[in-house]
Amino acid sequence: MTVSFDRVADVYDKTRSFPPRIMKRVVKALTEELEGCRTILDAGVGTGRYAILLQNSGFELVGIDVSRKMLQKAKQKGVANLHLADARYLPFNDLYFDATVCNHVLHLIQEWKTVLREITRVTRHIFLSTTYGSPNPISEAYEELLKKYAFERRKRGISEAQLGNFLKPTRFIAAVTNTPVKADKTLTMFEEKACSRHWDVPNHLHSQILKDLSPFCRKNILSRYSGSCLEKRDFEAVP
Ligand SMILES: C[S@@+](CC[C@H](N)C(=O)[O-])C[C@H]1O[C@@H](n2cnc3c(N)ncnc32)[C@H](O)[C@@H]1O
Repeated sequence: MTVSFDRVADVYDKTRSFPPRIMKRVVKALTEELEGCRTILDAGVGTGRYAILLQNSGFELVGIDVSRKMLQKAKQKGVANLHLADARYLPFNDLYFDATVCNHVLHLIQEWKTVLREITRVTRHIFLSTTYGSPNPISEAYEELLKKYAFERRKRGISEAQLGNFLKPTRFIAAVTNTPVKADKTLTMFEEKACSRHWDVPNHLHSQILKDLSPFCRKNILSRYSGSCLEKRDFEAVP
């Protein structure tokens, strides 16, 4: 099973993007790590928020995604080489790419191990993914309320936080730390059901939880912080 983002293509960037100064730092860290690589696959490229910056840094970038609408957004940004394809069955020859980046995708795919095997097959050197350091407190409160209302989540893929237990990063690069978590931005994302974690939750329950959360979200900037980092994985460990 896999999850297309067609339904949120129009609101994705509005609800996810980092401020430009932070994105610049993440991409600087990415490009430094990718030094010496020429061909790069962005598996689950989405709207191309990383891809366009990598392409503009001079890499030969290929993006794939199962969502036509997300790919259209990436194309509008200027990402040149895009394919409608499934990361479980990559349409590329063995060792075609120098590196693969895969950001915020594996949690969506039940067969995430198949994706990792495919990435290993088509990639010569490096596999990079970004992760977020600490969870957003509003998301944590949402999950607590789901438990209170006895809603059981269906498990899909593996979160990037858990991935480290299975596939230990050979290198861990803290690109951004101490980013304030803004309640208003998180709430907008929740209201628009822009986050895939909410798609299985029935609308009536989702609305109830948002109501319950609103006093918690009054403070605009929450006191906890999240970080963004890059993790370089060890291919040898993929089963
Ligand atoms: C959370 S978005 C991340 C997009 C982009 N990597 C980013 O960080 O902005 C997840 C993307 O993975 C795509 N996706 C989900 N399952 C996929 C699969 N099996 N193969 C390729 N893409 C997939 C979705 O359509 C969506 O565009």
